[in-house]
Amino acid sequence: MAARPPVDTAARFLPPLGQRSLDRLRAAAAGCTACPLHATGTRTVFGEGPERAPLLLVGEQPGDSEDLAGRPFVGPAGQLLDRALAEAGIDRTRTYVTNAVKHFKWVQRGRRRIHEKPGRLEVTACLPWLEGEIAALAPVGIVCLGATAAQALISRSFKVMADRGEILATSYAGWIMGTIHPSALLRITDADQRQAAYARFVGDLAAAAHRLARQSAHSAAPARAQSTEAAADGTGRAAG
Ligand code: URA
Repeated sequence: MAARPPVDTAARFLPPLGQRSLDRLRAAAAGCTACPLHATGTRTVFGEGPERAPLLLVGEQPGDSEDLAGRPFVGPAGQLLDRALAEAGIDRTRTYVTNAVKHFKWVQRGRRRIHEKPGRLEVTACLPWLEGEIAALAPVGIVCLGATAAQALISRSFKVMADRGEILATSYAGWIMGTIHPSALLRITDADQRQAAYARFVGDLAAAAHRLARQSAHSAAPARAQSTEAAADGTGRAAG
């Protein structure tokens, strides 16, 4: 049987080691063509937030609004996320917000562009950007919003409903947690169920806020930054 060609990844677009600030990474990612999504997305939607943000929030991929605006989580899911963060006591402007995949994957239905879940190929291709962001930030904690982010950073077997809300060890940061994606809340049609699911989401974020409050933003950050950048050469991923 013929060997499968290796999956292309963003690793070849990364700036050289030691020159991977968020600004340099953002500029390099704008020209990434590692997976086919660059051809259909309007632009690369890179993460945004302060360089010393203690908390990293990782979603799945930009949606229609984010693709047009060039910023993560600015559409309906982003507005729900903002509300939940505020209720959990987290100031979004003090977090860094990004996605596992940096281009919008969609299919045309009539006049609308409908979101399509990214596959393993796109997530793998894009991982060097996410790992580069993590290395540059050296965050205290990471919250993965939804299965795509959690499976990229925690474990391929992560199941949101079974595994959410737990603070876990990771080589990427001081700790990591997976929870539901705000878009999943928007899809719940029953109002009572949606309200209950939203309250649980706020509870998970509040647990992250509580954990963060107990930790110094600076403890162990320099050592972690070095080791994570070394691991983020485009091939590494954290143990699950
Ligand atoms: N959903 C995501 O996962 N990310 C965004 O930026 C917007 C919607």
